[in-house]
Order: sequence, then C-alpha cells, then structure tokens
Amino acid sequence: KPHEEMSIPLYFGWFLFRPVQEKVSEMSMNFFKTLTTLETFKKHLSDFSDKEGEEVVLEQSFKAKGMLHCTAKFTNYGKAEGAKEYAEKKVVQELYGSVSDLSLSALFITPRTVGARVSLTEAQLQLWPEDAEKEADRAHVTLGHAEGIPAVQTGYDLLEILLLQKAGQPGETVELDSGTLTYYDGGRWYLALKEPVSAAACFSSYYK
Ligand code: A2P
Repeated sequence: KPHEEMSIPLYFGWFLFRPVQEKVSEMSMNFFKTLTTLETFKKHLSDFSDKEGEEVVLEQSFKAKGMLHCTAKFTNYGKAEGAKEYAEKKVVQELYGSVSDLSLSALFITPRTVGARVSLTEAQLQLWPEDAEKEADRAHVTLGHAEGIPAVQTGYDLLEILLLQKAGQPGETVELDSGTLTYYDGGRWYLALKEPVSAAACFSSYYK
C-alpha cells in the first residue's frame, strides 16, 4: 500500500471557524492593549526586550501563522511516535469532521509565545492522545510566537506556568474586568478568564 504513509497529516486538531478566529484574534489584541497600559507590566518590561528603553510592541513581536487551532496530536506525516495508531483510532475516525465548542479558559504570554488555554470536555478528551508525554493540561491555541521560536513552544510555556501554580508560587496579581492576571518570573503572564470564551471548532487535520 504505497499511499498509506502519505495519508497521515502533519497534525490533527480542532480548527476554529473563521468568525471565531476573528473574535479570538481580537481578544488577543485586547490582551496586548491591556497589558501595555498596566504599571505592573511596565515594571517588568525588560523581560520582553534585550535593550534598555527599547519600545515593546506586542502585536508586532508575536505573529500568529495560519489557522487558529488546538493541536490534538502532532503526527508529522506518520513520523511522530504513535502517529499511525492515533490516525487509525476508531474515535478519531468517527469524530473526524465533527463540530464542538472549545472552552478558552485563560490567556497567557511569555517572551516567546502567546496562547489561549483550552479546557477540554470529556468528549474532546477522547481525542487527546493516550501516549501524550504531557497531560491534557497542555491543550491550547497558539496565538503567536516570536521570531525564531517554533509554535510547539507555546504548550511548553503553558505547562511551565501551570507547574508554577501547582507549586504554589503566588506571583503578582492584578484584578482586571476580564479576570485575574498573574505575573510569574521570567516574563510569564497568565490571565484566568472570569468567563471562559466559547470557540466553535471542527476536529480535522492539516497537511502543509
Ligand atoms: P502548537 O500546537 O503549540 O501550536 P509548525 O508550525 O511548527 O509546523 O507546527 C504546526 C503545528 O503543530 C503547531 O500548531 C504546533 O504547535 C504543533 N506542533 C509542532 N511540533 C509539535 C510537537 N512536537 N508536539 C506537539 N505539537 C507540535
């Protein structure tokens, strides 16, 4: 079967519908705007620039590429570990093309990446790979990454923040209309949204 190898995509995931992508991009722009006006953010601005006094324009530093989505399984055209098994799973095939709402529960930014945390439902968790080296806590939508930083870093940045929270690191908090913003060392900011944002998405796959 010569075509079998070719039929596995770069990744499987939930792809936000176009109007929802616009809504979420706007959310991320508002997040940038809010941050840059905050005194606490200004105080820690050096985390985001190498040069003293250099202007930091977040919307220019972080570019999102392509369609906004939440990666479920990175299969790398069959080269990733467990790719074939995942692609052949009954639940993956059955739910392929199905529509559901992703719950965006937090926004976060680091000097490397910007993302939205996704709280997966029980049904969506069925599509989360069992062999995942990291827990489902890692589910996110990459909203942008700095030049030279790969998108995959966003999940690692989120996991790091969650580890700090689990370790009881208090951070510096600011109450905003949209939720509680916390600053952790190293330029990590986490905004726990008061009202999670619902984003309609289609479970599908991507080939470059
Ligand atoms: P993410 O899910 O954090 O956005 P790229 O643009 O680098 O080719 O990546 C394509 C997509 O696959 C991105 O969404 C990216 O990260 C995700 N991705 C890339 N490499 C991995 C990996 N090793 N594990 C999990 N997801 C990955």
